[in-house]
Amino acid sequence: MTTDAAQIDRWWRTAVVYQVYIRSFADGNGDGTGDIAGLRSRLGYLRDLGVDAIWINPWYRSPLADGGYDVADYRDIDPQYGTLAEAEALVREAHEHGIKVIGDLVPNHTSEQHVWFQEAINAPIGDPSRERYHIRPGKGPDGSEPPSDWRSVFGGPAWTRLPDGEWYLHLFAPEQPDLNWEHPEVRSEFCDVLRFWMDRDLDGFRVDVAHGLVKAPGYPDANEEQRLLAGARGTENHPFWDRDGIHPIVREWRAVLDGYAGGRMLVAEAWVPRPERLALYLRPDEYHQSFNFSLLEADWTEAAYRKIIEESLESQGAIGAAPTWVMSNHDVVRHATRLGLPEGTDWRDWLLNGDRTVLDADTGVTRARAVALLMLALPGGTYLYQGEELGLPEVHDLPEAVLDDPVWERSGHTAKGRDGCRVPMPWTNEGPAFGFGSDEPWLPMPAEFGAMSVEAQAEVEGSVLELYRAALALRRDHLVDDEMLEFLEAGDGVFAFRRGSGVRCVVNMSTAPVGIDGDVLLTSGPLTDTGELPVDTAVWLR
Ligand code: GLC
Repeated sequence: MTTDAAQIDRWWRTAVVYQVYIRSFADGNGDGTGDIAGLRSRLGYLRDLGVDAIWINPWYRSPLADGGYDVADYRDIDPQYGTLAEAEALVREAHEHGIKVIGDLVPNHTSEQHVWFQEAINAPIGDPSRERYHIRPGKGPDGSEPPSDWRSVFGGPAWTRLPDGEWYLHLFAPEQPDLNWEHPEVRSEFCDVLRFWMDRDLDGFRVDVAHGLVKAPGYPDANEEQRLLAGARGTENHPFWDRDGIHPIVREWRAVLDGYAGGRMLVAEAWVPRPERLALYLRPDEYHQSFNFSLLEADWTEAAYRKIIEESLESQGAIGAAPTWVMSNHDVVRHATRLGLPEGTDWRDWLLNGDRTVLDADTGVTRARAVALLMLALPGGTYLYQGEELGLPEVHDLPEAVLDDPVWERSGHTAKGRDGCRVPMPWTNEGPAFGFGSDEPWLPMPAEFGAMSVEAQAEVEGSVLELYRAALALRRDHLVDDEMLEFLEAGDGVFAFRRGSGVRCVVNMSTAPVGIDGDVLLTSGPLTDTGELPVDTAVWLR
């Protein structure tokens, strides 16, 4: 059955999707790791927050060499997180709360523990089971050089040698061998995995490394520029990013989803250099949506925000796609911290060895509050990362001994990794792990998290949590009816726009308070005594 396009519920076009990093959301069985039981117990919280959907990071069976992005079995839940029956119950209950559920599909690579990879490396050279991966002889007289000069995103070479002398490709950690998407069984397997989860009523999938998958035939060496850009950012005609062969694969997946009723969606994590290239992923028979990470890199200036938003709206509008907005996720320094760093700081470097005294945490949170109103007033979909509704900062001082992200070791300690944004959620003011549910969470939680917990903020006027709740409620009433946006001139350094409903959003990115006119719907912080909008503050006006 193909659902009539006109009848599809395109809920994602305006949805607020809350990203659940399941390992760190809520721990139902007290073993230190978040799980499905914990998530189920907090669905009421997510309903009251007012989100439309949740996206759950990988929950499949996995040795967790890369936080679950190393999948050993795509059709089962990792015992640390629960059972398949619990996953099914979660989806049911979320739906009862009016919350859609998006999974995370990891098609570029499996875990080294996946049966296919185990079969391949235990088979003799030349065995057909090896063809499901990129397993090749090396270069040089004795094959001791890798097949190409490709670098792994996490650092080090992208090829690892097997004991029998052949090499296998892994664009990420060695525990994540890349699948060969030219292989028919790989193609049919993933269509089947999609059906497996669609049959369990998942509403869609975020697709990991959507710009990977296809590699240039013969594995040509990458040039210098391409090697430098190996950090998952595409460039023109790159040997492994954003290759044209990706699109027929996506069309197969889309056909599977189109066979299901109820508006199932695919959102691409595609790091693609130019809007024209991204547009290809969003053709009517491919992805429904793509992440847009551009705000996440923006300087805190009116000009930077305006340029990015203008370009995003233009390029997405031109192809009929609804834009998306993201400030934080499980891969980047939390924005309450990023926005507190001096202009122009490279936050990845800062995290590794930057001067901590330059961080202005108060400014960071003040701006994070303002940017919440900015982002939630824009047309399109918004992705929130768990904990941003509490104003959580990056935990930048995790001791080296607890770092878990493979990036830390693989980079030879030249990149700190992503653990600091993955620290568990605080639910209560006191108690072990602030109500996360364990005595000893998998990453230590800083003492300051208690005062930022859900309990500390719920029903407290002026808290970040109440700001998000109020904004999400008002957004439903005033900001999702149409996709119209008009930029307004509001003075130097002041970013302002009007939406179709007439609601205006004004963000003061200048260095002095500014006057405002109209009825105030919501402000990200108190106005001045004379009713002006302070620096780093946003307002919704009618
Ligand atoms: C994506 C994920 C990241 C993961 C990588 C490899 O970028 O967001 O967390 O490490 O893919 O799967």
